[in-house]
Amino acid sequence: MATKPLALFLFLAFYLGSPTMVHQKKLLVLLLDGFRHDYISDEVLESLHGFKEIVRQGVKVDYLTPDFPSLSYPNYYSLMTGRHCEVHQMIGNYMWDPKTNKSFDIGVNKDSLMPLWWNGSEPLWITMTKARRKVSMYYWPGCEVEILGVRPSYCLEYKNVPTDTDFANAVHDAIISLKNGKTDMAAIYYERIDVEGHHYGPSSNQTKNALEALDTVLLHMTMWIQEWGLDYELNVILFSDHGMTDIFWMDKVIELKEHINLTDLLQMKDQGPVVSLWPAPGKYSEVFNKLKLVEHMTVYEKEAIPSRFHYKNGKFVSPLTLVADKGWFITQEREKLPFWMNRTGKREGWQRGWHGYDNELMDMRGIFLAYGPDFKSNFRAAPIRAVDVYNVLCKVAGIKPLPNNGSWSRVACMLKSQPSVAHLVQPSSCALAFLLLFLFV
Ligand SMILES: *[C@@H]1O[C@H](CO)[C@@H](O)[C@H](O)[C@H]1NC(C)=O
Ligand SMILES: *[C@@H]1O[C@H](CO)[C@@H](O)[C@H](O)[C@H]1NC(C)=O
Ligand SMILES: *[C@@H]1O[C@H](CO)[C@@H](O)[C@H](O)[C@H]1NC(C)=O
Ligand SMILES: *[C@@H]1O[C@H](CO)[C@@H](O)[C@H](O)[C@H]1NC(C)=O
Ligand SMILES: *[C@@H]1O[C@H](CO)[C@@H](O)[C@H](O)[C@H]1NC(C)=O
Ligand SMILES: *[C@@H]1O[C@H](CO)[C@@H](O)[C@H](O)[C@H]1NC(C)=O
Ligand SMILES: [Zn+2]
Ligand SMILES: [Zn+2]
Repeated sequence: MATKPLALFLFLAFYLGSPTMVHQKKLLVLLLDGFRHDYISDEVLESLHGFKEIVRQGVKVDYLTPDFPSLSYPNYYSLMTGRHCEVHQMIGNYMWDPKTNKSFDIGVNKDSLMPLWWNGSEPLWITMTKARRKVSMYYWPGCEVEILGVRPSYCLEYKNVPTDTDFANAVHDAIISLKNGKTDMAAIYYERIDVEGHHYGPSSNQTKNALEALDTVLLHMTMWIQEWGLDYELNVILFSDHGMTDIFWMDKVIELKEHINLTDLLQMKDQGPVVSLWPAPGKYSEVFNKLKLVEHMTVYEKEAIPSRFHYKNGKFVSPLTLVADKGWFITQEREKLPFWMNRTGKREGWQRGWHGYDNELMDMRGIFLAYGPDFKSNFRAAPIRAVDVYNVLCKVAGIKPLPNNGSWSRVACMLKSQPSVAHLVQPSSCALAFLLLFLFV
């Protein structure tokens, strides 16, 4: 009876091999910059077949509230650390450290790669890499940075607005890497929705066109995942960092030079909804008192910033912070507005959309979607916050989350209640009974 040892071998191989196989599910993460919650309203969803398929198979939350400020870098980090900005320290797209006189300028200047800005907290991709799990990141801002001494196994560096073809290739490559074991978690960044939203406004045809192009890639993604037989071992999670609102440069601009003497400032960072100011020595009160009179914005002293922003205790927060009312844009002077290069080939295009405002504003809300073996299907979940995403990522990646500000109770409902290990134990006990029967009868 040569079959008995063979059966025993097969059984042991299955029994001992399975737990790791079952636990080590794969994870694909898509970060869709500037994707406002209502870009996939129930009505719009009808004509977006890729998104519709994901919603049918998985979970959609009503919306995701970003962290303050509702800007990219702060939220990239809140999403991947589960911590508020004042805890993870990435408090703006533009930052200044008076101690070292170093600047972080939306990640593109050389100094912005310094650990100084990044090692205030440990993002998930670093924790996973430390745990010897393989991580592949595509165009993800900051994946090339050595954070707390670690870099992910693969990083295709961010470039200015990856094309739809770049994105499709990244998704395809990620699925193959996940399938053949070259990676455990793949994370891909997509920027175009944000860019069109800025240039033409959130309701523009250009933004809709970008949405349709993205939708086509997502439809292909769902098909590739099926074709490669990854349905039962791959979880897919999609989210955005913030939304977008209309702005009006024809009248809703606040020129600081009209209100204060700009030479009274030691430093100024960013323009738009949130501006950081460091008054020159001896000029603090004068600058503060003058700015208090300006309409359509609020000037905060550091300690007076509302606690609900979870911002004021950040170590790079400036002595004065300006926050514009919705739709208003703060700048030094009109000539310094961030025009973009439209088809004239000159920097003269007006921006029609922006974000960064109070994170509770409806237009600042983003999206969260997920599907795969660990998620309920066709499940509509209540709103979540950017800091809540981290716990979901950790859960399905099999990583113990670091201390964070996310709420587990807001996300638990979207996961299948049976832990995956339960599926393993049952068939295995059955197999054991069957094997004993087979061996001894
Ligand atoms: C800080 O850096 C800026 C720009 O690199 C430079 O112009 C300025 O002189 C520096 N300030 C000090 C105090 O070193
Ligand atoms: C992070 O970087 C800063 C500046 O380079 C350094 O002072 C700090 O010790 C670093 N922290 C850790 C935990 O490595
Ligand atoms: C947007 O597209 C629609 C439908 O194709 C068209 O009717 C409309 O004129 C376009 N609007 C603009 C501002 O181009
Ligand atoms: C601005 O401040 C500078 C230096 O303190 C001074 O020379 C200049 O006259 C001031 N300008 C105005 C308009 O007050
Ligand atoms: C470029 O932008 C400016 C300002 O918004 C506009 O007046 C001009 O018509 C635009 N040119 C093209 C070719 O789109
Ligand atoms: C956020 O999380 C950090 C790290 O666990 C903790 O120190 C801090 O108190 C939390 N903040 C809030 C508002 O819960
Ligand atoms: Zn963004
Ligand atoms: Zn943006």
